[in-house]
Formats: sequence, structure tokens, C-alpha cells
Amino acid sequence: MTNLKNKNIIYTQDLTKSDILKIVNTAKRFANKKSSKLLYGKVIANLFFEPSSRTRFSFETAAKKLGAETIGFSGTESTSLKKGESFEDTIKVINGYSDCIVIRHPDNGAAKRASKIANIPIINAGDGSNQHPTQMIMDIYTILESHKKINGLNVALIGDLKYGRTVHSLSIALAMFGANLYFISPSQLKMPAWVKTELKKHKAKFSEITKLSDVLNKLDILYSTRVQKERFKSMSDYNKVKNKYILNLKDFINVKKNLKIMHPLPRVNELPTEFDDTPYANYFEQAQNGLYVRQAILSLILGAIK
Ligand code: CP
Repeated sequence: MTNLKNKNIIYTQDLTKSDILKIVNTAKRFANKKSSKLLYGKVIANLFFEPSSRTRFSFETAAKKLGAETIGFSGTESTSLKKGESFEDTIKVINGYSDCIVIRHPDNGAAKRASKIANIPIINAGDGSNQHPTQMIMDIYTILESHKKINGLNVALIGDLKYGRTVHSLSIALAMFGANLYFISPSQLKMPAWVKTELKKHKAKFSEITKLSDVLNKLDILYSTRVQKERFKSMSDYNKVKNKYILNLKDFINVKKNLKIMHPLPRVNELPTEFDDTPYANYFEQAQNGLYVRQAILSLILGAIK
């Protein structure tokens, strides 16, 4: 039986299909529920070394709705990291003040490093261009809400597949659930080799293409992503790719009736607001689902729900 008590949520590969479904099914219980005191007396530390709106506020809201207290920071300006304290010492100390650490950091592997120091659960809220596993679980939740299944669905991930951590975590999970994957990106921003190696372990069907029009009409899910400007070393490299995959509503003529567009947000120009009032738009529901999924994760890993 799946038991998530005291489990770290660091990478998709650390989770089984049954772990993901356990979180998804628990999240459904929170979707129509007001507040509860399941985590009364607990303290959640939200350590955001990198900017965030959805992830930080949804974790904070999730904790408060469950009766927990929160501590933490958004940006290190007001912390002793500014005086030269190490990441490791910071984690060691906050480990003693809290019951769970949620960490977003610009460096790949930062949450993993924290998990080696801490003896409380660590949740990776995004580590550099690597992974974003809680986003993956809310994405799986959202797809199961709209399509009731994942096996056999045609899912295209479009945009910045190199630096976009959400698509790394999600595509590995989609492979576990048996979706057919299409990766659409400029050649400079292709899905990294390590992700494709993981997909092969699950015998996933995936192909890399450059034109959305080649697959648009057979898609069930189109997952749009922002080109991650902050990860580029050269702005001229960014400028070359930033406008490559801007969705255009005029192209959506013969698409499947239940096609859903998803996006982890924030968006820049790749997903124009003209899509917002169409039946395809599912990205604000996706963001909302993040709250329920994070309530489920906190409740399960802190042992308030089995
Ligand atoms: N999707 C996501 O991680 O959004 P934030 O960067 O606003 O948390």
C-alpha cells in the first residue's frame, strides 16, 4: 500500500504511479472542502530563493487551510544568507524550527541537497531548470479531471523544453501513465537527453517535431510553456527563440472537441489572452488545482491522512 508519510517529493522518478494517484485522489477530497485543522500545530517552512506566485501562495494557502503555521522567505535579502551563511547551515537550522520544508531554488539539485541534510520531509517547489514535481501532480490531476484517463491520450508539449522544469517532471509522469507524447520546440530548446532516457525506461511513445500543425488536430492536450528568459546566458540567444511558438486561435479550426490547453503559468506572449474565453482554456483551473494537490501533499507526508 502507498504510504507517503515522511516522504520527500524531489523528482518524478522517486514517485510511483500509485503514489501520484494517491495524492490526486486525496486532492479531490480537498476540492470541495473549506478548511480543516488536520495540520494544527505543524509549521511549514516555505523557502523561496527564486520568484514564484502560484507555488508559494498555494503552498502557503494549503498550509493555512489545514491549520498549520508558516515561516519562510521570498528572496534571501532579509536572511543570513546575505551575511555569507551557507545553504547547508540554513537548511540545518530551519530543519529544527519546522515540520516540512518547501524549497524553490535556482540551482538544479538544491532540493536534493537539502534532503541530505534535513530529517524532515523536503518538497521540491522547482530546482533550476531541472524539475517541478508538485506542478506535475497538479497537471496529472487536471488531465484526469478533463479526460478521465491518460493512457492513449495525445499530448503535445510546446515551447522551451530545455529549460522548462515543469515539462521534464510532467513528461516522465505522462510516460508512466501511457500517453503518446509530441515534443515541439526550436532546435536550441529540445527536451534534454536525460528526460528521454527516463521516457525510454517506461517504453514511452514520443516524437520530436517542429510544427504544431502536424499534430494539432489529433491532440487531447496541448501544454504550452514560456521560454525561460532567466535561464539564458545570452539575450541574443533568447531573442532568437522567444517568438517561435506563439499560439494562434485561427489555427484551431478542426481540433478535437475536448482539446484542452494547459500552461504552468506565468505566461508571456506564447499563449495570447484571446484563448481565455474558449472551451480549450484549462490553465486557470490547473493553477487552482495546485491548491488541492498541495493540501493533499502536506497532509499525506505529515501523516495527517494515510
Ligand atoms: N507554475 C509555477 O511554478 O508558477 P510560479 O513560478 O508562479 O510558482
